[in-house]
Amino acid sequence: MMMLKLWRPSMFKIKIFFNLLVIVILSSCGQDYNSNSNDAEVYSDIGITPGSNLYEAYTLMQTKCFACHGKEWRGLTTSQMWIDKGLIVSGNPTNSSIYTSLTNNGGDMPKNPYPPLTRSEVLTIKNWINNP
Ligand code: HEC
Repeated sequence: MMMLKLWRPSMFKIKIFFNLLVIVILSSCGQDYNSNSNDAEVYSDIGITPGSNLYEAYTLMQTKCFACHGKEWRGLTTSQMWIDKGLIVSGNPTNSSIYTSLTNNGGDMPKNPYPPLTRSEVLTIKNWINNP
C-alpha cells in the first residue's frame, strides 16, 4: 500500500513530463514548418525580391512550367539570366519564347496535362517581360 501511494504521484509526474515533451516537440516542428514555408523569405534567400515582377512570374512558372523545365530554369533567379538565355526579350513579349510558347498565344505550353494559363497569369508573364 505504501509503495502504491509513493508510486502513483511519480507515475503522474512521468506522464506530465512526456506530455510536455510531446508539446515541446510538436511546437518546435510547427516553427520549422512555418519558417520553411515562408515563401517570401525563401525567394529573397535566392535573390528574388518578393512582390517584384520577376517574383510574380517566377513563382507562377514554378507551378506551371518547372515540372518539366525546372532543371534548366530553376537557377534563373534574375531577369538578366532569362534575357541572357534568350528566353525573354526585355520590353518585347511577342519576341519572347516564354510568351509566344503559351497555348493562349498560339504555342502549346504548358504541355498536357497542364491546363492553359488563365488571362491574369498570361498578364503576369507579359508584365514581367515588359518590365523585367
Ligand atoms: C508537361 C511538360 C511541360 C510543361 C508543364 C511545360 N513545358 Fe515547355 N516544353 C516541354 C517540352 C517537352 C518541350 C520541348 C519542345 C517541344 O516539344 O515543343 C518544351 C519546350 C518549351 C519551349 C521552347 C520551344 C518553344 O515552344 O518555343 C518553351 C519556350 C517552353 N517550353 C515554355 C514553357 C512555359 C512558359 C511553360 C509554363 C507556362 C512550359 N513550357 C511548361 C514540356 C513542358
